[in-house]
Amino acid sequence: MALVRIIKKDFIIRLEKGAIFHTNKGYICHDDIIGKPEGVKLFTSLNKPTWAFRPLISDFLMNVKRVTTITYPKDLGYLIFKMGINSGKKVLEAGTGSGALTMALAYYVSPDGKVCSYEKRPEFSEKARENISRACLEDLVELKVGDISRGIPERDFDCCILDLPEPWKCLKSVTRALKSGGSLAIFLPSVNQVERTVVKMLEFPFLKPEVVEVLIRKWDVKKNATRPDFQMIGHTGFLVITRKIFDESGV
Ligand SMILES: C[S@@+](CC[C@H](N)C(=O)[O-])C[C@H]1O[C@@H](n2cnc3c(N)ncnc32)[C@H](O)[C@@H]1O
Repeated sequence: MALVRIIKKDFIIRLEKGAIFHTNKGYICHDDIIGKPEGVKLFTSLNKPTWAFRPLISDFLMNVKRVTTITYPKDLGYLIFKMGINSGKKVLEAGTGSGALTMALAYYVSPDGKVCSYEKRPEFSEKARENISRACLEDLVELKVGDISRGIPERDFDCCILDLPEPWKCLKSVTRALKSGGSLAIFLPSVNQVERTVVKMLEFPFLKPEVVEVLIRKWDVKKNATRPDFQMIGHTGFLVITRKIFDESGV
């Protein structure tokens, strides 16, 4: 695999001897990349400058074929850090959507952990499978088709992440599936959903959650003209983060 940056646009290509990669800025022969050092500078047939790298997990994530909105790096970075997701963790996710968040989770639990991801629409689950395989992360992921609000048979997860519109309907399933002490994070685009979720959470054994919004402002750095970018991602969603407390009833 190679990440090819042509001017400011990134493409991920599977390198094959003799193949040619076409873009509207000209073409590049795969043979000009194979065997070259990472970061090598090339030129397209239209003389546009190009660089080739091994793709990072963030490159795979931003290049997924989308069937849904995806979880953005600014949000998933904070979630992964706050939930303590690392190698060996057993993570439950719903819904899978395009599989972008699934890929990030799989990357961080590797090599010994596992991500079990539920999606109620089979066609989305199939698209996610393709995206996950493209990043060679399929061995770390178990994709399941089903509505998580109806209950799931798996137990003893270290962490659970929900990115679906009605998480308050899923809290019973999630409480049963999570270990005591396990982390729960929920991504929600609207504040009405946040309030409904947090109020419902009071009926379950969870700590009072932290509710945050992550904002990133990029800067354009030029000599004597450094300023914030004119454009930014204004809103993606809110993050509700908590932990399951020990409950003697054994829920
Ligand atoms: C916004 S998308 C998730 C995107 C995903 N985080 C990503 O990065 O690609 C929400 C997904 O949740 C699924 N969904 C909604 N309710 C669900 C439920 N109760 N159980 C399982 N999946 C559900 C939807 O079909 C949709 O694909």
